[in-house]
Amino acid sequence: QSLKIGLIPADGIGKEVIPAAKAVLEALGSDIPKPEFVPLLAGWEVFTRGGNALPHETVDALKECDAALFGAVSSPTRRVTGYSSPIVQLRKELDLYANVRPVASVAANPGGKPDVDLVVVRENTECLYVKQEQITPTENGREARAIRLITERASSRIGKMAFDIALGRPRKQVTIIHKSNVLSVTDGLFRETVRAVPALPEINGAYDNVKIEEQIVDSAVYRLFREPEIYDVMVAPNLYGDILSDAAAALVGSLGLVPSVNAGDSFVMGEPVHGSAPDIEGKGIANPLAAIRSAALMLRFQGHTVGADRIDRAVEQVIREGEVLTPDLGGTSKTQEVLDAVLKKL
Ligand code: NAI
Ligand code: MG
Repeated sequence: QSLKIGLIPADGIGKEVIPAAKAVLEALGSDIPKPEFVPLLAGWEVFTRGGNALPHETVDALKECDAALFGAVSSPTRRVTGYSSPIVQLRKELDLYANVRPVASVAANPGGKPDVDLVVVRENTECLYVKQEQITPTENGREARAIRLITERASSRIGKMAFDIALGRPRKQVTIIHKSNVLSVTDGLFRETVRAVPALPEINGAYDNVKIEEQIVDSAVYRLFREPEIYDVMVAPNLYGDILSDAAAALVGSLGLVPSVNAGDSFVMGEPVHGSAPDIEGKGIANPLAAIRSAALMLRFQGHTVGADRIDRAVEQVIREGEVLTPDLGGTSKTQEVLDAVLKKL
């Protein structure tokens, strides 16, 4: 048995941190099926060469893989004809309907809050991100509209994902984030559908021990900053989830630490939360820990818990000891030295 993993470093420091994650997976030995890596292209650089940020070969090859690791893309801020973000497209092509981002406090983290241990579970396929926008001229100037799509199917499956994740955590609590006091139809459907998940016949009472809370999105952000310890699993429609997950990441300090996965029912893609970091690209000082943790999270979603736990423990030890850290965490070490420290702990 082997584990076929597509590797898409893409741009900037993606090319520095994905090889580190690969090395860690290779070091796990018999704790996981033997990994087989498939190097694949995507991103801005490949777009400038071939006019396509997500070549067909990449998508086809991924469909033959068991999982994938994605680095980061450099997206232009101006509109470029023919360019669209490969990560958004990949989520669609592979039906990766959940973006899952665990955020936890770490020792040795200047500027981080001490009591954070939560997971943001963001719906990844609809809401305002269906990108159905329209602009029309009127007597009083132009008028722009966007469609916000919320379906029972997508809300129900993201709800299940959130409850499943909560089941595996000590506090077993799901907080539904919405704004149904104002958007009573769309957010109302999201809230109602997620709330109804535990009573679905196919669930068979499996979520009976999970506590359900809910919070209006604006006050959820306020409380996230005031008392983050009240949250365990937060589940949200796409736009709120996007904003909340970056806000939550900010609570614990460096972006170089926070992992995520894009998950569907049959495929999972790990992805560090940070971008391509052009300001430190090529200097060999990118923090590889977010990418390494994303590899662990990918394994966890595939049921390879032993391997995932080993990686997470090794990373935690390196952070706690605080001797080998990259500059974003106040250290002076290089990417390679941090990788070596993790490998040694493994
Ligand atoms: P960024 O995450 O690339 O960088 C923000 C700041 O954090 C920079 O100072 C950077 O040096 C630092 N940083 C990020 N990751 C780090 C790491 N692993 N180790 C040490 N320091 C790290 O966000 P920014 O600067 O807003 O965007 C840069 C490019 O990345 C843009 O083209 C943007 O579109 C893209 N981007 C891509 C994402 C993705 O692929 N999912 C997500 C966010 C941004
Ligand atoms: Mg974001």
